[in-house]
Amino acid sequence: MKLIVYPDYDTMSLNAARLVGAQVRTKPKSILGLATGSTPKGLYRELIRLYNEEDLDFSEITAINLDEYLGLGPDHQGSYSFFMKEFLFDHINIKSENIHIPDGLTINADQEMENYESFCDSMPRDIQILGIGHNGHIAFCEPADEFAKHCHVAKLKDQTLDANSRFFTNKEEIPKQALSMGIKQILNARKIIMLINGEAKAEALKGMVLGGVKPQIPASILQLHPNCIVMADKAAAKLL
Ligand code: GLP
Repeated sequence: MKLIVYPDYDTMSLNAARLVGAQVRTKPKSILGLATGSTPKGLYRELIRLYNEEDLDFSEITAINLDEYLGLGPDHQGSYSFFMKEFLFDHINIKSENIHIPDGLTINADQEMENYESFCDSMPRDIQILGIGHNGHIAFCEPADEFAKHCHVAKLKDQTLDANSRFFTNKEEIPKQALSMGIKQILNARKIIMLINGEAKAEALKGMVLGGVKPQIPASILQLHPNCIVMADKAAAKLL
């Protein structure tokens, strides 16, 4: 695991975009694992700029998202499908058939996750973008007594519901369950870029890099990945 600390969020985002941009230019058919949340918005903004101003071509890439709320479809503003369109996909030339996000409206969530797992296993990502939850979760792999190895239906922790309720009109509206990639699929990526910014994530970053590998801090498993870059801003790194 390599940790790089940047002076601020924008510099962190810019450098992450440079890495992703270089990957796409070197291999136009790259498979990118993408994340949602506030953290990667700067990266996506910069990728859109590279597309508009520097001819970065996304027409051959495949995008595979980490997770989705159970019960929300792409028309719901709180869904990750909606988020990805709003902050990236609607602004670049990715082909819609190359976009993969778990189906939040599935009537058989377990089957959906079984299918997503086979798909992810057959499509190892060239780069996986990750953010971290305040409680150390990655995707929706929540802290537990064992790592959530497989694609699964996650029961969201109160801390996660509290943190993510800002994307909804009120806390009651946020689904209590989500469809999530498992740790095994996340670790399957050739390169992982974990983005962390802001003082509120300082404890999570400290736990992830200094606390040993344990399922109570799911992100700590990244210590075992051979090619994981943690990009943080100064505020997030203040406890290191
Ligand atoms: C959600 C997502 C995670 C994301 C996390 C942090 O729970 N499932 O993939 O990393 O939020 O989000 P934010 O960047 O908004 O803090």
